[in-house]
Amino acid sequence: MARKKIALIGAGNIGGTLAHLAAKKELGDIVLFDVAEGLPQGKALDLSQCGPVEGFDAKVTGTNDYADIAGADVIIVTAGVARKPGMSRDDLLGINLKVMKSVGEGIAANAPDAFVICITNPLDAMVWALREFSGLPHNKVVGMAGVLDSARFATFLAWEFGVSVKDVNAFVLGGHGDTMVPVTSYTTVSGIPVDDLVKMGRSSKEAIDAIVQRTRSGGGEIVGLLKTGSAFYAPATSAIAMAEAYLGDQKRILPCAVHVDGKYGLDGLYVGVPVVIGANGAEEVIEIALDDEAKQNFQVSVDAVKELLVACKAIDGSLN
Ligand code: APR
Repeated sequence: MARKKIALIGAGNIGGTLAHLAAKKELGDIVLFDVAEGLPQGKALDLSQCGPVEGFDAKVTGTNDYADIAGADVIIVTAGVARKPGMSRDDLLGINLKVMKSVGEGIAANAPDAFVICITNPLDAMVWALREFSGLPHNKVVGMAGVLDSARFATFLAWEFGVSVKDVNAFVLGGHGDTMVPVTSYTTVSGIPVDDLVKMGRSSKEAIDAIVQRTRSGGGEIVGLLKTGSAFYAPATSAIAMAEAYLGDQKRILPCAVHVDGKYGLDGLYVGVPVVIGANGAEEVIEIALDDEAKQNFQVSVDAVKELLVACKAIDGSLN
């Protein structure tokens, strides 16, 4: 059987980390694409030289030519500009929208059968725009946000409870931004709801509220510390989990930014919800019951995403 092909559009911090992870896991041969000349070629050469030490069989190549992504099974998109301190995800809109146009066209022309995972921010708007510009089916274009957001939530909860991160199953809904909705009623430690752990005196409502807030601004906290860029290890790890779910037809239920049409009261909007990821891409959105508070918060998040789409349409008339 021919090896799978993984194309990474954007060879920056996340793109390089993705390439390393994909190579280590031998997900397939890897093509790093970037507009910057030399960058993808240099990273590909460097990563290839990890092979003999780590013992992976994966060909890693770098390119500035979209023709080289032809036949890709999975494409992960990080092309664009990362957030700088003081810049909100939304400030990135204008710049990254143009990038999505060129990436969408490159994918449509060269690898229209791929499963596409978008990471570029502002995520919910960019994944929607990428789908529009590429014209791929909705089930084959998803956004990576929820896996990362719930990993952040889980990390902070594991620290708070003094337990292994392996036992925390965190649940986050909504857009990838300050309005995301970490849902404590669906968040458990070895099956025990966080709300029950609070009742048992193992934490306080105040502490959990602070963790919810820290999760919401989790990206910004890292931007503030790094000063010259945004998070890349956990975003790359999260996208690789999604790629593995697709390649292995794992039917994992992962929180992803997907096209929701007919569930959660939505009629065709990309937003973060739990979805089954398998060989057909985003196979089924799972609609869960939300209490009034979560419902309200989800609506705020949905409205924020809709506002971004209005802004995108104002910038690029072809999106109307
Ligand atoms: N096509 C392809 N690559 C592009 C394009 C384009 N039109 N425009 C920019 N790039 C490349 C840049 O040359 C750079 O190498 O995208 C890469 C982005 O890399 P970084 O600046 O290191 O950003 P990174 O940390 O990888 O984050 C990428 O993911 O989480 C989001 O907010 C983040 O939107 C940002 C994206």
